[in-house]
Amino acid sequence: MRTAERFPERRTGLLPALRLAQDEQGYLSSQVLAEVAAIFELTPAEVEAVASFYTMLKRRPTGRHLIQVCTNLPCALSGADELLDHLKARLGIGVGETTPDGLFTLETVECLGSCGTAPVVQIDEDYHENMSAEAIDAVLARLAEG
Ligand code: FES
Repeated sequence: MRTAERFPERRTGLLPALRLAQDEQGYLSSQVLAEVAAIFELTPAEVEAVASFYTMLKRRPTGRHLIQVCTNLPCALSGADELLDHLKARLGIGVGETTPDGLFTLETVECLGSCGTAPVVQIDEDYHENMSAEAIDAVLARLAEG
């Protein structure tokens, strides 16, 4: 893997390598983690520790769009729980589940580092801030169109 060779300290290339593997495979299976560990001459446990720390790394298959609702205190005080309930009802799924059409997976996450614009929802790579039920509905409708 060329990513490993681009860094003077091999280990520092681990996160970019995991992102690349996820882009190629869709998520990071145990087999993929073991292969990355071998390339970086790390133990699978060391790679698993990194993969489980970063919420942008997926350890299981998800829908085409991953919806992550921050439920930490500033977001909770700004309506995150109500927003999460709205999403569950609208999508007909619970946290950790994927819609039957494979379009959306719903998760909760720890602080996304944007507490000043709470409540915050990350969908794929994008932050959606100051979210309301109406605003998130508009985002979902746009994503569902393609
Ligand atoms: S608590 Fe939600 S972004 Fe910080």
